[in-house]
Amino acid sequence: MKRFHKGILQTAIAALSITALSGLTLSAHAQQQKIKIGFMLPYTGTFASLGNAIENGFRLYVSEQGGKLNGREVEYVKVDDESDPSKATDNVNKLIKRDNVDVLVGSVHSGVAMAMAKVAKDTGTLLIVPNAGADAVTGPMCAPNIFRSSFSNWQPGYAMGEVVAKKGHKKVVTITWKYAAGDESVRGFKEGLEKSGGTVVKELSLPFPGVEFQSLLTEIAAAKPDAVYTFFAGGGAVKFVKDYAAAGLKKTIPLYGAGFLTDGTLEAQGADAADLLTTLHYADSLGTPRDNAFRLAYAKTYKLQPDVYAVQGYDAAQMLGIGSNAVKGDLSKRAELIAAIEKAKIDSPRGPFTLSKSHNPIQDIYLRQVSGKENKLVGIASKALADPSRGCRM
Ligand code: PHB
Repeated sequence: MKRFHKGILQTAIAALSITALSGLTLSAHAQQQKIKIGFMLPYTGTFASLGNAIENGFRLYVSEQGGKLNGREVEYVKVDDESDPSKATDNVNKLIKRDNVDVLVGSVHSGVAMAMAKVAKDTGTLLIVPNAGADAVTGPMCAPNIFRSSFSNWQPGYAMGEVVAKKGHKKVVTITWKYAAGDESVRGFKEGLEKSGGTVVKELSLPFPGVEFQSLLTEIAAAKPDAVYTFFAGGGAVKFVKDYAAAGLKKTIPLYGAGFLTDGTLEAQGADAADLLTTLHYADSLGTPRDNAFRLAYAKTYKLQPDVYAVQGYDAAQMLGIGSNAVKGDLSKRAELIAAIEKAKIDSPRGPFTLSKSHNPIQDIYLRQVSGKENKLVGIASKALADPSRGCRM
């Protein structure tokens, strides 16, 4: 009997120490393993500079933490998604299955982001969207493992609708690319405008990423609206602003836009962008200590001025950092990681923001005006604006 007890005791002690030891080895092992980030971004095409700015911003935050997030070194894998939704599912599957990434970061284009969100939801991979505003991502497609560090297409559009109505413009023509981002930006604008007494009299569009604006500009001239609202970004935004001025419209019909129209584009747009009013969750002259420090570090590192895309990339890394710290680098502790990001106040260069239930930033939307090479702050168009997140059940 005694011997039997002793035997059990010894076995139990041995088992306990093996468990403890293997526990130790596991966490040490987990600490040594790198966190693998999969950037799925456009590195070619009309949004190429946007993809680069996002990556720069992300890397800047990580390098400020010594290249590590909670003790784990960060490793990057990149895919050029070409802003092509038809290639998006294959591209995201490569990052998950071939490269075994821990976290997906992407993308810029709403159609690509929706394909990413579908795969992320199906596979449970953590996804942080550092730009694409597709309303669906934090609407019907929302999921616990999907976060956005940027905006919903509805947000800047809605804020500008209110601004344009307050300026007394009654009849407005809209012009954009025919895809989710353009459609949703115009829908948000229309909602803001029409609730405040204005009307959208004509909705013009062309396929993404087309830049043959001429016949549409002729239609605008003929319609003689009080104002024009537009969503274009990247290379397309540069060409649109130049063509609008060249057609003589800038002098006769005021042009308003979601802020992407003039963000990261002013160098190329030159005088044709002068004085344009846009709405966005960032401006070049916020003047806060947080933003000043970010802008200085970004300019030093990349010899470039940051833009909204750089901020969104930086904040995507901050969000991952917050989650990673909460689980001491063990990203498999998913529920804790998610809860930490959900309740965080993110100390963004744009100003601090929190996330809505659907994981989209609740943020101030600024009214900005182009002055020289900057989108100067005019004021807050919409304070702490939350996306309505229609269709999100979480
Ligand atoms: C989008 O497709 O959602 C999109 C693309 C570029 C922007 C903003 C939104 O600058």
